[in-house]
Amino acid sequence: MSGLFISFEGIDGAGKSTHIAALAQAFEAQGRAVTLTREPGGTPLAEALRALVLHEAMDPLTETLLVFAARRDHITRVIAPALAQGRVVVCDRFSDATFAYQGGGRDFDWDVLRVLENWVQARDQIASAVEPGPDVLQPDLTLWFDLPAAVAAQRLVGARVPDRFEAQPSGFFEKVSAGYARRCAQSPSRFARIEAHMSAESVWQQVLASVRAKGWLS
Ligand code: TYD
Repeated sequence: MSGLFISFEGIDGAGKSTHIAALAQAFEAQGRAVTLTREPGGTPLAEALRALVLHEAMDPLTETLLVFAARRDHITRVIAPALAQGRVVVCDRFSDATFAYQGGGRDFDWDVLRVLENWVQARDQIASAVEPGPDVLQPDLTLWFDLPAAVAAQRLVGARVPDRFEAQPSGFFEKVSAGYARRCAQSPSRFARIEAHMSAESVWQQVLASVRAKGWLS
């Protein structure tokens, strides 16, 4: 069985978490081995970098380099080996988040992000036997939880102590959303846009329908 790589994306407060866990369970219930992971993070080194990115002040280039460094470690140690074993990798965020947050939110140069992505995700630079595919490793499906920034902000009120991103004003998240929309427009067949302002049950049905449309779940 060939590996599957599914990412979840969206602004903070979009409500991805419960659906990520539910999708992992749905695959397991059908006998698939699942690797549930997240970015930045997913390895000890990448989790250490995550703590820095979420809590230490730094300029946008430093932030960008750290999320890509974390991604590189995550790909080589976790994602690529899991895909090579035929597992389903369900990942809370991947490089679309860098284009949305650093590119959109922080106004960091989109072309530089593309260069970094081409390096970090280059299939021929990943040692473990990744299956044949496009030159640059990308998810097979990206579930983009789209909702108005104001609705997401309302959901986060009082939820927890905000990190460096959650503490941003809503204008930042409008720019992040625009970054996701741009990324979606560039790879429409990879993206499924989920209307995330709807009820949890409706959102789950949209998630299931998007995955079933690919023929991956019955
Ligand atoms: P998030 O995935 O929302 O986790 P939690 O639910 O635990 O808060 O937090 C990760 C944050 O990191 C989120 O605000 C987006 C940000 N981020 C980037 O800025 N760039 C990236 O490349 C990635 C993967 C995440």
